[in-house]
Order: sequence, then structure tokens, then C-alpha cells
Amino acid sequence: MNSLDHSSVPPLKVESVVKCFHQGKTAIAALDGINLTVETGELVAIMGASGSGKSTLLHAMTGLTDIDAGTVSVDGQDLAALSDYQLTKFRGLNIGLVFQAFNLIPSLSAEDNIRLPATEEPGLEERVDALLERLDMTDRRTHKPDALSGGEQQRIAIARALITNPAILLADEPTGSLDSVSGQEICRLLRELCTEQKRTIVIVTHEPHVAMWADRVVVLKDGKHLAEFAPSRHFDPQKIASQYQGVLNAAAGVMA
Ligand SMILES: Nc1ncnc2c1ncn2[C@@H]1O[C@H](COP(=O)(O)OP(=O)(O)O)[C@@H](O)[C@H]1O
Ligand SMILES: [Mg+2]
Repeated sequence: MNSLDHSSVPPLKVESVVKCFHQGKTAIAALDGINLTVETGELVAIMGASGSGKSTLLHAMTGLTDIDAGTVSVDGQDLAALSDYQLTKFRGLNIGLVFQAFNLIPSLSAEDNIRLPATEEPGLEERVDALLERLDMTDRRTHKPDALSGGEQQRIAIARALITNPAILLADEPTGSLDSVSGQEICRLLRELCTEQKRTIVIVTHEPHVAMWADRVVVLKDGKHLAEFAPSRHFDPQKIASQYQGVLNAAAGVMA
């Protein structure tokens, strides 16, 4: 298993993070003092309207974005303390990334896409086999991405994110390109990976259908951590939508 498994240190800690983008003379605070701690084996959904800072927060968690203030710690390691080389290495070992657009290499087979982030090492082939088996993709292993459905491509992208056995998986709108049935299958899979393997997972989404699988929903608005709630355990997206709307209404009421 992952060598970085100190149960007392949270796998992910975001403290007072600020990130501004400059457009001409105006600066937009995409992240405006965000605090968030994610515990081992927790599945957190980050919800918010378009432009609320969800993707920027996810990028900050990987160190892919330079932040202007605050700290991001992964397993107790302050990302800002690492050189670019160290950060790339650290990210490769500790964080798996999944995107809306799958980002598979079209010319490579499914199994070669999965191998891509891994270094040649003993046991790699067994890991590829085990992931294909776990994700129910063994009979698709030699297919190129264009011969796979969207849901299958996302499964391969998840396998690729897991090949280095990272403790943390971060997903930005992972169901955004999928029909609702495939989207739910991907959510169920992420939920199972979290529960079975104690992976720490953060999913950015604006869909209640996705957020309903989480242990905790964090709501962003204008780059701020507006509120959070525990989703109803009834797996009812309408209930989640009304919880989400309730949080937004309450905040609007306070500010009015
Ligand atoms: N590379 C960038 N350059 C300039 N502005 C950006 C950039 N990335 C994001 N922004 C701005 O930061 C804000 C938050 O964006 P983003 O994190 O992508 O939101 P979300 O993922 O919630 O839709 C938006 O106002 C967006 O326009
Ligand atoms: Mg986004």
C-alpha cells in the first residue's frame, strides 16, 4: 500500500488559500481565503455555480496552480516547500487526477493508457490486470479510446489515476461528459473505491446526482467556502438540490 499512511495527519489540508487572476487592471479572486480539511477515506463533493472557483481549488490541491497566499498540505507536506521536480514526483505518488474530458491518448490501447504514469517496476503488470478486473474492463484492454464508450473511457482514466496507488483521487466534473446511467456507474465506482480502499476522494461537480454519493458537500460561492452539509442518505438528488439551495438561500439572507 501507499507508504504515506500516517493516520494522524489529514491527507489534504487547505488553509486560508487565496488565488487571484489578473485581467487587465482588474484582479479576480478565484479563491478567497479557503479552508478545507479532508480526512482519510472521506469522499467530499465540491459544489458551486460556474465560476465559483471549484476547478481552481482542485488545481491548488495538486500544486498545479501557484497560490498567492495560504498553504496546501498533502499528507502533512506543504506543497509550496517542494521544487518543481519534487512536486511533480510527489504528485505522481500521492495524487490521482480524473477529468471531465477523460484525457486519454487516442493512439494507445486502454491498457497502455493505464500504464502511462507508472514506471517500469516489478508488480506493474499485476496491478494493471487487477485494476482492469476491478473496473470490469478486462475484455476491453486492447481497445483504443475511440472504440470505448464514454463511461468505459472514464473507467480507464480512473484506472490510470490509480496505477501509482495514490492515497488521494481528485476528479473535476468526472461525469460531465457522460449520460446519466454511465455517470451514476462512475459515481458508484468512486464511492466503492473510497469505502473499500480507504481512498480519499474529492469530486468537483455542480450536479446533485453526483454530490449525493459524498460524505460531505462543500459549497463554494465567489471563491469562498460558503457552507457545507452532509447529504441526505436517501440518495435522492432532489433532496440534495434542496439542501444546496437552502445553503445558498441562508447565505443570501444573511448578506441581504
Ligand atoms: N486561467 C485563468 N485566467 C483568468 N481567470 C481565470 C482562470 N481560471 C479561472 N479563472 C477565473 O476564476 C474564477 C473561478 O474559475 P473556476 O475555478 O474555473 O470556476 P468553476 O470551476 O467553479 O467553474 C472565474 O471567475 C474564472 O473566470
Ligand atoms: Mg470548473
